[in-house]
Amino acid sequence: MKIGIDQLSFATTPYYIDLVELAKARDVDPNKYLIGIGQEKQAVVPPTQDAVTLGAAAAQKLMTPELKERISTVLVATESGVDNSKATAIYIKHLLGLSMFTRVVELKEACYAATAGVMMAKGLVAADPQSVVLVIGTDIARYGLGTPGEVTQGAGAVAMTVAANPRLLELDQVSVAASDDIMDFWRPLYAENAMVDGKYSTQVYINFFLETFERYQQMTGRQLADFAALLFHLPFTKMGKKALDALLGDRDDLDSRRLREALTASQQYSRQVGNLYTGSLYLGLLSYLQNGHAKAGQRLGLFSYGSGAEGEFYSGVLQPGFEKQLNDVSADLGGRQQISISEYEQLFNSQLGLSAEDVTFDTSKDPSPFWLTGQKNHQRQYKANN
Ligand code: COA
Repeated sequence: MKIGIDQLSFATTPYYIDLVELAKARDVDPNKYLIGIGQEKQAVVPPTQDAVTLGAAAAQKLMTPELKERISTVLVATESGVDNSKATAIYIKHLLGLSMFTRVVELKEACYAATAGVMMAKGLVAADPQSVVLVIGTDIARYGLGTPGEVTQGAGAVAMTVAANPRLLELDQVSVAASDDIMDFWRPLYAENAMVDGKYSTQVYINFFLETFERYQQMTGRQLADFAALLFHLPFTKMGKKALDALLGDRDDLDSRRLREALTASQQYSRQVGNLYTGSLYLGLLSYLQNGHAKAGQRLGLFSYGSGAEGEFYSGVLQPGFEKQLNDVSADLGGRQQISISEYEQLFNSQLGLSAEDVTFDTSKDPSPFWLTGQKNHQRQYKANN
């Protein structure tokens, strides 16, 4: 039975900053951000948005009455969870108006967990081919004002349906996952911002990629010529280049040129948004599909990485008509509003965070489809914008 990703959508926040302005404010050469890190714009999160509202906004783009009937399970991958016990998936399922008879759970392993969701969804669909599993990766990447990681912040969510006879990407049988206990990036329960050993993290990422890809090749016999594109988790777009360079070295042939060109296409959206954590690999997939030479029948390789650490290399084959199963990301990005660095800093410091206080947020300036309206009696309050 063919199983894979049937549809894919993306949502981000209504605001962004220009990283040339951030560079000037931080007294850094803008080319460090634009070329050295590979980022141009960064999504900024108002207090009325969080992992729940972003995840619901991405999933809402896929919803039809028929699909709502068929979703058996909602798997939400996030490292920006809003509660240590109650799953983000419960709130999202409620905002989407899905049936009471839906299985919901939250998954966590840094930026890797959405891929765990896809693999688990594949198993659930194999067990019940009529069912559709909704997999969401939703996050807010926060490192702190003035930190080295600040330029690699970002926010947004992807939503995918995994089903039998998929219309977008049929998953191949073989995938290779690897894990190890490593402290390259983490966020203790008392911290609002991530802690990161960025250079070490980059090295671990590359090692996981090379090792999982080599094992995948041993298991399948596939060579670079078999792939139209290799897609990467992009905590910052230069990371994808570092990983591909580690594989290709100074090769300059048909395969290496095709893969480098595909990488550039896959980086376009992330350059405009920043790190999505769990959703980042899948925004890269969307970007390749909408900006690269994607064609039905092509085999794509996907490398997912989450600090801590876990990596997985897997592949799939593009299906006829795949372009109709995506939302128009360029239009979404074009509709955002640029804000100043001081407005960004003010919003950065206005998040609910770990506060236990009751609060009501002003939602009047946020055009997003769902809002976090505040907190009451230690309970987050959510509302649809309609
Ligand atoms: N023009 C062009 N490139 C420039 C430049 C300039 N003026 N100034 C610096 N650069 C380049 C550097 O040469 C370097 O390139 P390289 O990585 O290819 O060697 C790059 O810009 C970054 O500079 P560096 O001094 O190494 O940056 P940094 O110490 O500020 O840290 C990160 C960069 C990415 C490590 C940091 O932002 C970080 O920790 N981010 C979080 C990483 C992460 O998300 N990890 C977890 C998920 S996998």
